[in-house]
Amino acid sequence: MVLICPSMLSADPTRLGDELTAVEAAGADCIHWDIMDGNFVEAITFGAHVVAAHRKISKLRFDAHLMVENPDRNIEKFVKAGADSIIVHPETTKHLHRTLSNIKTFGKLAGVALNPATSISCLDYCSDIVDIVLVMSVNPGCSGQKFIDSQLDKILALRKILPKTTEICVDGGINDITAKLCIQRGANSLVTGSFLFKSANTPTDYAEVIRKLRG
Ligand code: DX5
Ligand code: ZN
Repeated sequence: MVLICPSMLSADPTRLGDELTAVEAAGADCIHWDIMDGNFVEAITFGAHVVAAHRKISKLRFDAHLMVENPDRNIEKFVKAGADSIIVHPETTKHLHRTLSNIKTFGKLAGVALNPATSISCLDYCSDIVDIVLVMSVNPGCSGQKFIDSQLDKILALRKILPKTTEICVDGGINDITAKLCIQRGANSLVTGSFLFKSANTPTDYAEVIRKLRG
């Protein structure tokens, strides 16, 4: 089954808790937290305390997508906040293997996020400790961008080289059309931001959109 992971970045910021409860009731599999530090990307979003507060009201898997420089400084904070996976960008750490190993020492899922221009070759000697590969189908920094078609070939290439158990999640510009294209190429997890939160309001609406995305 394809996992659907709503990104809280597109939720109504004045009602984050209610939005999370609504997408959980609508059948979401995982909550995607876009953590931005105003450095690796321009925007600043959620701190660990925000994730921790929502941990108390949800049983879903929490993914922390760290778009921050020096992610090692933040791993333990987000683990303590209740993240079940920590996803890092290879450009942000001098020692990717060490960073991933560090995540694993906390017993959490380790993820690598690949920017649109980042090659899959950075996984060559660490894929054995990677649980999630996050294919960025937009450049990181904000929601509501257009899906970059060239990333479809990347999904296909990853599916060929990665063990079946490695999750391939696609993040950015996912809608009912792009979701299908990603799933056809082997993605088994999709982040949904604006398509979900801007096109729906109630748990029933959300459930309908989630069903559409799952294909
Ligand atoms: C972009 C983030 C995405 C984004 C997805 O930097 O990593 O998770 O919120 O939003 P949509 O689905 O609107 O592209
Ligand atoms: Zn993300």
